[in-house]
Amino acid sequence: MAEILQVNNLVTQFNTEAGLVKAVDGLSFHIKEQEIISIVGESGCGKSVSCLSVMQLVRPPGKIVEGEVLFQDKNLLEYEANDSEMRAIRGADIAMIFQEPMTSLNPVLTIGHQLSEMLIKHENFSKEDALKRVVELMELVGIPDAENRVNAYPHQFSGGMRQRVMIAMALSCNPKVLIADEPTTALDVTTQAQLLKLMTDLVQRLHTSLIIVTHNLGLVARYAERIYVMYAGRVIESGTTKEIFANPRHPYTLGLLRCVPRLDDEEGRKLEPIDGLPPNLINMPPTCAFMPRCSRKQDVCRREPWPALEEVSEGHFVSCYVKSQEKAR
Ligand SMILES: Nc1ncnc2c1ncn2[C@@H]1O[C@H](COP(=O)(O)OP(=O)(O)OP(=O)(O)O)[C@@H](O)[C@H]1O
Ligand SMILES: [Mg+2]
Repeated sequence: MAEILQVNNLVTQFNTEAGLVKAVDGLSFHIKEQEIISIVGESGCGKSVSCLSVMQLVRPPGKIVEGEVLFQDKNLLEYEANDSEMRAIRGADIAMIFQEPMTSLNPVLTIGHQLSEMLIKHENFSKEDALKRVVELMELVGIPDAENRVNAYPHQFSGGMRQRVMIAMALSCNPKVLIADEPTTALDVTTQAQLLKLMTDLVQRLHTSLIIVTHNLGLVARYAERIYVMYAGRVIESGTTKEIFANPRHPYTLGLLRCVPRLDDEEGRKLEPIDGLPPNLINMPPTCAFMPRCSRKQDVCRREPWPALEEVSEGHFVSCYVKSQEKAR
């Protein structure tokens, strides 16, 4: 399959009173048609800002400073954020499910109204046809009694049901790429798993490419074909999910894997959180940004700049001087 979206060397910064926040600092990734990938990393590593950059939805004081976002061979960053072409692509060709569902739904408009707006705006549906389609969409994402519930307001839906609405809204125009930014963190584990399954089933049926953004490697293991591990605004390791789980080479990836609970864990086995805190993105060290927290660091790590990504086996890239050989378990 051909590549549908390719991000090259993306740099996005926030000019704040405290200093320049390097939220995304040379990020590259790609996704093929119909592929499911995941971007994984701890809170604050730049996942949401990366997604917003792809959609050109970064608000001041944030600014995309550098990079390319190639979608079907067009560099989207050549468009102004409010250019009509960019607005047509956003939502219709590349859709996003945002981290905060309540902030993306308007509390004073019915669910039906909000879902039909997309169809009227992007797909030239009449009001009546749009409402019919909305009921179908709500049924598609498993909202019971859809015909009546189109008239409900967001607060009348549970968190899980609101997320289903968000999925329906994102898929309403049949996008080519869906970016789901941590869509399930506010929900209990069972609901999270159900929604992820629903979403992956739907994108497969609709031939949509899916980017699952999360801090939970365990959650995406079953669904993503490839994984990008992010740290301090960059990818530090990427590869097939199988390879990342079997042969993690970056000590940070290893740490993330050791935080993942498993069904077959013996009782009492402790999960190991990664010691220390993520770096301050205003004062980044010139070395590998993970070095201060890394228990496997060597002299070279203290001396040399952050290493470039190196291909260690086919399709498996890692940015590390040490390159761990340990198994996660
Ligand atoms: N409006 C803003 N002004 C200043 N800094 C910002 C702004 N938005 C984000 N940042 C900073 O950019 C960095 C990346 O933030 P981002 O929201 O992308 O992290 P994330 O990986 O999505 O985290 P989480 O898992 O908590 O959602 C953080 O250090 C954050 O503080
Ligand atoms: Mg986020």
